[in-house]
Amino acid sequence: MLRKILIATLGAAGLLAAAPAQPVQAAGAGHIEHVNWSFEGVFGTFDQDQLHRGWQIWTGYCAMCHSLDYFAFRNLEQIGFSEEEVKEIAAEYTITDGPDDTGEMFDREGIPADYWPSPYANDEEATYINGALPPDLSVITKGRAGGPDYVYSYLLGFDDEPPEDQTVPAGSYWNSAAHMSVKMPPQIFEEMVIYEDGTKETPEQHAKDITAFLHWVAEPHLDERKGTGIVTMLFLLVLTALLYALKKQIWSRVEH
Ligand code: HEC
Repeated sequence: MLRKILIATLGAAGLLAAAPAQPVQAAGAGHIEHVNWSFEGVFGTFDQDQLHRGWQIWTGYCAMCHSLDYFAFRNLEQIGFSEEEVKEIAAEYTITDGPDDTGEMFDREGIPADYWPSPYANDEEATYINGALPPDLSVITKGRAGGPDYVYSYLLGFDDEPPEDQTVPAGSYWNSAAHMSVKMPPQIFEEMVIYEDGTKETPEQHAKDITAFLHWVAEPHLDERKGTGIVTMLFLLVLTALLYALKKQIWSRVEH
């Protein structure tokens, strides 16, 4: 009996861990490719090296147009940056603070507790310059059907020709994941950054790395949460075994 319980529980855990590897389809018939993410499944965790590579792409490219409203510089300590390094990174950015005693807003150097600033003064300026508002990317991997798969496919979705019934306006680009013309120019190309860990700099790799980084930004506590889940499951398993043993002992005194 105990063995059966054990097998059933482990079986269920195994099923969860091997969760769906099916292609997902966004609402608008876009082409979404499924990626085997390191953070998938019950036992999946973020790959720290990958997050560092994604960070390189974020600072080198995406941060020119996008903000991360919910991401504080000090969060970088979670992926191995030292306090000193975080201070230096934050100080490279200008933060508008205030108002001061005279009622004026003022600019100052960033500090670790600051959130990632938008590169634009306001949404109107961002929209005027880009033709559309570059959305805040703090929770983008959770805010779109398909999640990280969608973001990955969006970043690589500029190669396909638009369907015949679609016309692409000047200054727009057809994106096969969004299944519409968008105002973001293609951003991913070979060797857009040089990786220090020897990883090959292909467009697919770049798209994976920046997407993993953005998913970590959206779910910084994913690893801890899964850890807690696994400990809870083990605890319940042990408890079940103990209760079963106890029951046997009590009932063994009863004559059948
Ligand atoms: C030159 C400015 C610019 C840069 C650089 C840029 N983007 Fe964008 N991005 C935009 C604009 C503009 C939009 C809005 C497009 C639209 O809605 O037509 C956008 C939209 C997006 C979206 C939203 C897709 C959706 O379904 O709404 C994602 C995801 C995205 N960008 C990711 C990135 C990533 C990752 C990078 C870095 C590799 C990056 N962007 C670099 C301008 C930029």
